Amino acid sequence: MHIIMSKVKFYKEKEVPLEFHRVKIVQKLTLLPVEERLHALREAGFNSYRMQQKDVYLDMLTDSGTNAMSDRQLGAMMWADDAYAGSTSFLTLEKAVQDIIGKKYVVPAHQGRAAEHTVMTALVKEGDVIPMNYHFGTTITQIGLAGGRFVELINKETAFKSDSENPFKGNADINLLESAIAEYGVSRIPYIRMEASTNLIGGQPFSVANLREVRRTADKYGIRIMLDATLLAENAYLVTRREEEFRNKSLKETVRTICDLADLVYFSARKFGFAKGGVIATDSLEEKYKMDQVTATYEGFINYGGMSTKEIEAIATGLYEAMDEEYTCQSPDFISYFVKEASEYGVPMVTPAGVLGAQIDAAKFCDHLTFRDLPAAAVCAALYIAGGIRTMDGGTGGEAFPDSESDRKADMELVRIAFPRRVFTLSQTIFCLDRLKWLFDHRHMIGALAFDDLPMLQRSFRSPLKPVGDWPEKLAEQFRKDFGESR
Ligand code: F0G
Repeated sequence: MHIIMSKVKFYKEKEVPLEFHRVKIVQKLTLLPVEERLHALREAGFNSYRMQQKDVYLDMLTDSGTNAMSDRQLGAMMWADDAYAGSTSFLTLEKAVQDIIGKKYVVPAHQGRAAEHTVMTALVKEGDVIPMNYHFGTTITQIGLAGGRFVELINKETAFKSDSENPFKGNADINLLESAIAEYGVSRIPYIRMEASTNLIGGQPFSVANLREVRRTADKYGIRIMLDATLLAENAYLVTRREEEFRNKSLKETVRTICDLADLVYFSARKFGFAKGGVIATDSLEEKYKMDQVTATYEGFINYGGMSTKEIEAIATGLYEAMDEEYTCQSPDFISYFVKEASEYGVPMVTPAGVLGAQIDAAKFCDHLTFRDLPAAAVCAALYIAGGIRTMDGGTGGEAFPDSESDRKADMELVRIAFPRRVFTLSQTIFCLDRLKWLFDHRHMIGALAFDDLPMLQRSFRSPLKPVGDWPEKLAEQFRKDFGESR
């Protein structure tokens, strides 16, 4: 299934997603020759997190903290009101959150995981269980630190099937929710967590119909719902494209409908609204007071929570802008275009196209490798050799499994090609597609990678990897052969 792209029709040219913005500030990029790319990759230990930005042509590792700013955001940053307490900028943020999220009380945090730390420390206690559609790394770490644990509600058969027509793979399975409540008991389940556009299964949305069912079940037992709204604007955008009832609804109305179904909403503003910061919103004064205690201890005064007032102003402006479909459509429409083109060539992509990034199913792409060969990490390395493109290992190598479980397999072997908001042009997108198609045609040249330096904490970010054999050299040589003098 492919979402309807731009409302603008073309006469003779092939229909492509059309941008509703123009570039005002640019940053110089360098595309190194393939031999230098290979050298840089080796220096980085074949791990994209260890690469230096100066060696990267297209940084498609993440959409977090790398989104383009608007002229209005830059302007807003100039009139930020610096004050330890009682800053006018905080009132501006509060108003934006009330207008868009529809909750009365706002708790700021310096980024998404800090918001999670505040929420979980204040509201989750020893022995609690948090059912959720699917986990995100920082979320479950914070729940664990608070003494709680999590259970997943996603339907594994649909969610982990990369090649699918299911428009809402992020939905929670209500039967699994009922079983979790029966197993752990209501008293141990203070919250159900729903993550908008479930990040780690490929940015896949939930439907409003599903959220309503979760709400009904939560109400039956008196459980509260927390919404991770980090990718909410895009989830709502896909709802307007894929859920009949919302076909003629605005993004703002859809976002509000979703938020009204949750009791507490938190998000990383590094993806939603801006490129820094975090926000929590609730209607409960009791929750707000409990969280303020944590903020004041770990983040800063309750009016800024670790952010500068400039960032606070930029988030407030950015939240309104995220409700403008013509701004928000850019990343999901580019992703949809990319996934369609790559799939048509035969590249195994996660379908339907999600948000945040286009995702390759590396297990299928490299069906000659096993999960122990770290196929997603290997495709990331190979894509860098092919085009200086930095992507993220969303597979076994990229999971933050503890060292004691170093032989554990991830649910999916994904390579995430992120599309930070309004950053890359269509020609850069086509370049990335081109290099991916070349790599697909030479996929059997991709070999295994292995951790080089275990045991180590946070292996996925820090551990160098080593190739098994000399396949990276062979791939670079093949590139030279096929592309001649070209970079
Ligand atoms: N929740 C979700 C759904 C996220 O995707 C992220 C971050 C966070 C919470 C934590 O927010 O980074 O501001 O502390 N995702 C980033 C990514 C890291 O690359 O997808 P943060």
